[in-house]
Amino acid sequence: MPNHTSLTPNSLPPNSLAPNTILLAGASGGIGSALLGELEKEYPQATILTISRRDLATDTGNHSHLTASLADPKSVGKVTEWLRQKPLPNWVINCCGTLHWLSHGQSHGKSHAPEKSLGQCTDDALLQSVATNVLTHLHLAQGFAPLIQRREPLTWVSLSAEVGSIEDNRLGGWYSYRMSKAALNMLVRNLAIEWARKVDHCRVVAVHPGTTDTPLSQPFQENIPAGKLYSPAQTAGRMVSVIRGLREEDHGKLLFWDGTPIPW
Ligand SMILES: NC(=O)c1ccc[n+]([C@@H]2O[C@H](COP(=O)([O-])OP(=O)(O)OC[C@H]3O[C@@H](n4cnc5c(N)ncnc54)[C@H](OP(=O)(O)O)[C@@H]3O)[C@@H](O)[C@H]2O)c1
Repeated sequence: MPNHTSLTPNSLPPNSLAPNTILLAGASGGIGSALLGELEKEYPQATILTISRRDLATDTGNHSHLTASLADPKSVGKVTEWLRQKPLPNWVINCCGTLHWLSHGQSHGKSHAPEKSLGQCTDDALLQSVATNVLTHLHLAQGFAPLIQRREPLTWVSLSAEVGSIEDNRLGGWYSYRMSKAALNMLVRNLAIEWARKVDHCRVVAVHPGTTDTPLSQPFQENIPAGKLYSPAQTAGRMVSVIRGLREEDHGKLLFWDGTPIPW
């Protein structure tokens, strides 16, 4: 049985200290690539480590890149080995996720649109959603875990989605996305509990980035109310503000893009 200890880690310092090293995964996506630009702009002195299935850059200056698919369990060892040669990240941000695979080049068989009803659900779509929305975060955490140190402050951010909130679900539909994001949210909550026992100062959160103009939202943008579709640059700026503003009480929570909590 899980042991119900307190979630709150020992007195956390403010998160406003500039990070020395940032690890960004899913760095080639719409939000991931905008975040890379924002982080480079905001923290020009920081070492930035990126992971993507795409070959983003060669190791130059203070940007180092690992080409890997985090959905693949082999990525766990690859990530650990690579990180052992780098400075320890203070911030880890994982942008990996998928809603559909209609047109933007995913190579896992049939196309998939978010389900409107039970009858449209397929095992394949759910399993693939779990692989991309959950395993990519689990494997990154497993790859990173051997490196964590009690006295090195750590901030972990998984990009999740408001529609993964069970309590907030009033519309239904989007079964595979909702179920897999709800599972991601539970992973983040568990990670928050486990790492609070191992690291003196850590903040582990899931964040909903807001509806952003990227390939993920592209087929569903028609019905978005005016002013509610944000540019990747806008979202990236907000993500950095949320991370910078993380407080002790945010640890182990799902947060909206303005930093307010969303019920699980
Ligand atoms: N856009 C929105 O409106 C919105 C709203 C709510 C939540 N979100 C969440 O925000 C995050 C970023 O979304 P986005 O809009 O930037 O989407 P995107 O442009 O489609 O990027 C998706 C990211 O997920 C990774 N990915 C996709 N399929 C993968 C697979 N099979 N295996 C491993 N990695 C895979 C990609 O990593 P690589 O770098 O390896 O290609 C890419 O960086 C996602 O978690 C999404 O659920 C987005």
